[in-house]
Amino acid sequence: MSRKTLNIGLFGFGCVGYGLYQVLEQTKGLKANVKTICVKNKDKKRQIAEEYFTYDKNDILNDPSINVVVELIDDADAAFEIVKEALQKKKAVVTANKKMIAEHFTELLELQRKYEVPLLYEGACCASIPIIRNLEEYYDNDLLESFEGIVNGSTNYILTQTAVKNISYAEALKEAQEKGYAESDPTLDTGGFDAKYKLLILIAHAFGIVVKPWEIFNLGIDNISDVELAYAREKNLKIKLVAQAFKNAKGEVSCFVIPKFVDAQSRLYNVDDVYNGVITKTTFADTHFFLGKGAGAYPTASAVLSDISALTYDYKYEYKKLNQEEELHLNQNVLLKVLLRHRKEDVGIYTVYFEDISESYLNHHSGFIIGTISLDNLKAISGKPYLKHSVILFEPVPEGKKISEPLSLAALS
Ligand code: HSE
Repeated sequence: MSRKTLNIGLFGFGCVGYGLYQVLEQTKGLKANVKTICVKNKDKKRQIAEEYFTYDKNDILNDPSINVVVELIDDADAAFEIVKEALQKKKAVVTANKKMIAEHFTELLELQRKYEVPLLYEGACCASIPIIRNLEEYYDNDLLESFEGIVNGSTNYILTQTAVKNISYAEALKEAQEKGYAESDPTLDTGGFDAKYKLLILIAHAFGIVVKPWEIFNLGIDNISDVELAYAREKNLKIKLVAQAFKNAKGEVSCFVIPKFVDAQSRLYNVDDVYNGVITKTTFADTHFFLGKGAGAYPTASAVLSDISALTYDYKYEYKKLNQEEELHLNQNVLLKVLLRHRKEDVGIYTVYFEDISESYLNHHSGFIIGTISLDNLKAISGKPYLKHSVILFEPVPEGKKISEPLSLAALS
């Protein structure tokens, strides 16, 4: 089969954009070359010859010789406009912009269908791990029950560095930024939003469920204090930011992003620093484990390169699960066993939100509760800015336990 020659118009020349340029330079077998690079900042000194660069997006979008647009900018709104226009002009698109994809998933599906051009985005989830293509292709004939994973490199780096090297949260975050792992707005990482966008994309390819970002609950790592870290250390556990999705007996899917205690038996336990890891569970194959670098210039560029390479043989996502006969739905009515750390003075507030409490502890400043809480009640307390707490998940509670109605605001007054 003869492969297409690709003429690339690249948007963005930051950490990943330059990484991709270097990786393409070293991949001689691939018939793909960067023709034009569109950037925003005219004053920034560039690492390669000036004649590549333009500041006008139309120099790429209106160039008929460019058949592939690679979008690697970090402004999700501007990225969507570029991707939309490129698809409308029947140019194939490769992007790693998870926020943009998650916020516009339905429109992007429609654009691909209408203009019959591929949009590939392996680099958007877990950087170097080929997880989207595996969920899309490999698990087609298998019964995928669940997946869980560490899908954000920056937070894993921060959690590893603070727990192992005993450096401060701020120092670890600064290191993650310097190494090019973090988003320009690092609260997307530390607040669990980046992981949520990735989870949204993964459930579309794993289960054929398309949701809006606000339908997935996310907690980040920014409220974790010494109390939880000391608890983890004492019990020989690690705290990891985990995105998970699982089917119940009725085939409904629950999913969320919450920091989680991971024990030494879990394959996520040794996924440290910038590495990501995903465990899939299927009915007949049992579990698989994917491991790889989850952020950084070259790991992300390698996934973008793989997408570019796939375009040379006309690969596109078929969204097989979206087109399956049996439509799956989200069911966020689940119970979770968690540790909730709170301020000493708030000790009385939280107990009403728990289904049951198995352990509690109080010192001079703070305390914690270990017990079972519904995801709805967790959302309710997390939405109240005057409550200061952190939550670490042990495990979702298996189905079969009765879940109370979510508590109203009145429960707090
Ligand atoms: N900020 C992201 C992360 C980059 O740390 O995982 C890769 O998606």
